[in-house]
Amino acid sequence: VAEPLVLGIESSCDETGVGIVRGRTLLANAVASSMDEHARFGGVVPEVAARAHVEAIAPTLRAALDEANVTLDELDAIAVTAGPGLAGALMVGIGAAKGLALATGKPLYGVNHLVGHVAAELLRDDAPELELPTIALLVSGGHTSLLHVRDLVNDVELLGETIDDAAGEAFDKVARLIGLGYPGGPQIDRIAVDGDPNAIAFPRGLMRARDLERHRFDFSFSGLKTSVARWVEQRQDAGEDVPVADVAASFREAVADVLTTKAVDACLSREVSRLVLGGGVAANARVRELAAERCAKHGIELRIPPLRLCTDNGAMIAMAGSLLMSAGRTPSPLDFGADSTLPM
Ligand code: KG4
Ligand code: ZN
Repeated sequence: VAEPLVLGIESSCDETGVGIVRGRTLLANAVASSMDEHARFGGVVPEVAARAHVEAIAPTLRAALDEANVTLDELDAIAVTAGPGLAGALMVGIGAAKGLALATGKPLYGVNHLVGHVAAELLRDDAPELELPTIALLVSGGHTSLLHVRDLVNDVELLGETIDDAAGEAFDKVARLIGLGYPGGPQIDRIAVDGDPNAIAFPRGLMRARDLERHRFDFSFSGLKTSVARWVEQRQDAGEDVPVADVAASFREAVADVLTTKAVDACLSREVSRLVLGGGVAANARVRELAAERCAKHGIELRIPPLRLCTDNGAMIAMAGSLLMSAGRTPSPLDFGADSTLPM
């Protein structure tokens, strides 16, 4: 099939997404989120996310089919996130996808969530088509990964990832620490505007020479989070006011600095002149600004999809499935399982 009609299901974290693409054209992208249900816990609770997927999956499927104005019979294939992600959450999407595949007799493709994030770039109608190779920096509440993408179907290399917290998770935890709501990223972004990014010298994880030997493209944010916590505690113990805007700005600067330094270093070391940003943290104003600045300095083309394609969604999974099918990949067997740590 030259331009396969593919339905994609995403349920690896707190978004239930169903998208439909024809070839590289976006036809539908329905997303339901359980974010509000996690707010009082300050982070995604796996059990709560899984239960929300069970409730949202059928209505979201219906919404996507209606939006694209297609029937299940017309589909050429079904794609679903096989991992990485929260096991219980993944199982809901996989179960639904298998049911559809079995009922319709259509081929089913298990998709790597991170590959999906990069594939989202192909669905943009506001920019010339993505050329490869590219480096991709994927940063959300669940992942912080640096990829070298030579071919989306056959050749994606994981250069590095976080060895502890995801960047978005760090934003959420620090926001909670300084009394801001959930999700923390947008709140910190908002308040940081009034702060001084150089007020407090927070540490940059895995940036020292001896860390770079083994962890050149890896990230670490738990030390930064602890450092912010200790700094805030010391003020409070001394009975001083906490300069919340300065803390937010300085923390955001530390995260943006590390993310963009390592992403640009990856481009230079692999001689790749393109960088794709994806995931919720790609919405961060300072991350975008620093990335643009540093990419421009080194002649690197920076690509950031619009937010609805940047955050978790079903269309990116449909797009990745469409590529697998067009490349003639064998469909996945109907007995594959959820793999929370699925490798490339
Ligand atoms: O991709 P996403 O919607 O969902 C998953 O985590 O899978 O990303 C959500 C994460 C949250 O941790 C949120 O705090 C962070 O992205 N985020 C941001 C911003 N907007 C969302 N982090 C920094 N700055 C932002 N403006
Ligand atoms: Zn994601």
